[in-house]
Amino acid sequence: MEIRVEQGDIARYPADAIVVNLFDGVRKPGGGTGAVDSALDGAISRVIRDGDCRGKENEFTLIHSLGKIPSPRVLVAGLGKAESFTLDKVRTVAAGAARYLRGRRCKTIATITHGAGIAGLDPEACAQAIVEGTLLGLYTFNRHKKPKPDETEVRELVLVEFDPSRIDALRRGVERGVALAEAANFARDLSNEPGNHLTPTDLAERARALAEETGLECTVYDQPWMEEQGMGALLGVAKGSHQPPKFIVLRYRGRQSLAIRKLLRELKQARAEDKQAEAKKIREELRTEHGYYISRQPAKPTHLVLVGKGITFDTGGISIKPAAGMEEMKGDMSGGAAVIAAMGAIARLKPAINVTAIVPATENMPGGSATKPGDVLRTMSGKTIEVINTDAEGRLILADGLAYARKLRPTFIVDVATLTGAISIALGNVAMGAMTNHEPLYARIQRAAGVAGEKVWQLPMFDEYKEQIKSQVADMKNVGGRGAGSITAAFLLKEFVGDTPWVHIDMAGVDFYSQEKGITVKGASGIPVRTLVHLALDLASDPLENTV
Ligand code: BES
Ligand code: ZN
Ligand code: ZN
Repeated sequence: MEIRVEQGDIARYPADAIVVNLFDGVRKPGGGTGAVDSALDGAISRVIRDGDCRGKENEFTLIHSLGKIPSPRVLVAGLGKAESFTLDKVRTVAAGAARYLRGRRCKTIATITHGAGIAGLDPEACAQAIVEGTLLGLYTFNRHKKPKPDETEVRELVLVEFDPSRIDALRRGVERGVALAEAANFARDLSNEPGNHLTPTDLAERARALAEETGLECTVYDQPWMEEQGMGALLGVAKGSHQPPKFIVLRYRGRQSLAIRKLLRELKQARAEDKQAEAKKIREELRTEHGYYISRQPAKPTHLVLVGKGITFDTGGISIKPAAGMEEMKGDMSGGAAVIAAMGAIARLKPAINVTAIVPATENMPGGSATKPGDVLRTMSGKTIEVINTDAEGRLILADGLAYARKLRPTFIVDVATLTGAISIALGNVAMGAMTNHEPLYARIQRAAGVAGEKVWQLPMFDEYKEQIKSQVADMKNVGGRGAGSITAAFLLKEFVGDTPWVHIDMAGVDFYSQEKGITVKGASGIPVRTLVHLALDLASDPLENTV
C-alpha cells in the first residue's frame, strides 16, 4: 500500500473515502471534521443532532457527500471521550476505519490525523499510530487460497494535514509506522505459514532474504557446526525429524555504521581545531539522523541479543500432543519470527546500538530416532538436562541458543518464546508473561511494550521454584511439575545466561487470535515485534549504563 502525507484541505481531497472523527459529546465538530461539515452544508452536524452519530468508541457513520466534495464518502469515526483518548485508541480506530472502508470496496482513503487535534497528542506519534493501525488492521494471509471475486485491497492511504508546519513531523511518524507495522506483518506471515511451507530451512531462507533486503549480516549454521559447538539439547530435539535443524544469526551494527564512524571522525577533527559551531552541527546530525547521543554513550557499545524459539512445528515429540488444535503448533516459531522481523525494522530505523538475533530452528517430531523421556542431553554450556517430557522442547533449544548468546558477551539478552501453555492459564490471551534476573532491563521492556500498545506482565523468580527442576540423574530436568509451569521453565533458561542481564518473554498466550479486534486479525498476532523494536530504539537513545 502507498502511504503519504499531503498538505491541504481534507474536504477537497479526491479519494474513495475520507475519514474524519468525532469525540463523544461533541455537538459542533471543529478542525478537519468541521471543515468537511461546512463543505457538506452541515450534514455531519445534522446526523449528530438526529442522534445517529454520537462519537462513541468503535462507532462508524458513513455519510454520502452527494457531489458536494470530490470524495463520494465521508466516514465519521467515533473516538470516545477526549480525556481518555490514547495512541492505542488511534491505532484501533485507524484499523477499524480501514476495515470498514475495505468492506465497502474503497481503494483509496484519505484521513485526518486522529488525536492530534483537541486530544492534544503528539502529531508525529499519531501519524505513526494511524499507519500502524491501518497496516496491521488490514493484514490478511491469503497465500494458499484463491482470492474471492469481490475482494478489494486498499491501495492508498493519505494523511491530509492543513497546517504546513506539521508536515515534516507527520512524515517522520509515517516512516516509523510503516517500518514497525511491516515488521509485525512479516512476523505474522512467518507464523501463519503452515509447517510444510516453513521448515527450519525455509525460515533460514526468509531470514537471509530479509538480511539482503535491509543490509543485515546473516549467518545460517548447519548440523555439523552444532555438533562442533556441542549443542546437544538443540540436536536432541532435532533428532526426531527428517528436516535438518538450522541456527540462524542476524546482526545489526548500529554503533559501528560507516556513516556514524565518519561523523565521529569529523567531530574529533572539529574539536581539535576548536570549531565549536561545526562540532555542534555534527553532534546535531548524529542525534537527529542516527539517534546517536554523544554525551550519553557508554564506554562499551550496548549490545542487545535477541533469542527466539524457532520450533517450526511442535508435535510434542514422543510425549505427543493431543490431535485437537495441534495445527496451531505451526506457530511455535513465533518467538523466532518476532526477533527476525524486529531486526528488519531495526535495520530500517537505524538506532545507534548493536543488535544480534539468534534463532535455533528445528521441528519437534516423534521419529524413530527421537529423544525419549528419561534421556539426558548435554548442552553447549556443559550442563546436562534430563528430558522428562519431550514436549518441553522449547527450553531445550533455547538452552543452547542462550549459551551461544552469552558467548557473544552481550550487554543484554532478551528471549522470546511460545514456551508454556501455563502462561495462558495465568494471563489468558491478553498479556505476555515476563521473567527476569534484572529489574531495570525489565522496566525498559515494560516501557517499550507500553509505547507499542502490547501488554506484558511480570512473574516472580523466587529461588524456591528452582527446587522443582532438580533431577536425580542430571544437572536439571526439563519439567518442574504442575505448579508454576511458566516460572520453572524460566528457571531452566536462567541456568544458561549466567549473570548477563536477561528477560524471558513467554508469548504462548498471545501468539494467535481467533477473533478480529482492533489491530488484531484472525491468526498470528505479530506480538512482540513492536515492543522489541522500541526496546532497541530506547536503549540506543537512553543507554542503561548506570544500572548495569
Ligand atoms: N509450544 C508449547 C507451548 C504452547 C502451548 C504454545 C500452547 C502455544 C500454545 C511447548 O513446547 C509445550 O508444549 N509446553 C508444554 C510444557 C510441559 C510439557 C511442561 C506445555 O505447556 O504443556
Ligand atoms: Zn512442546
Ligand atoms: Zn513448543
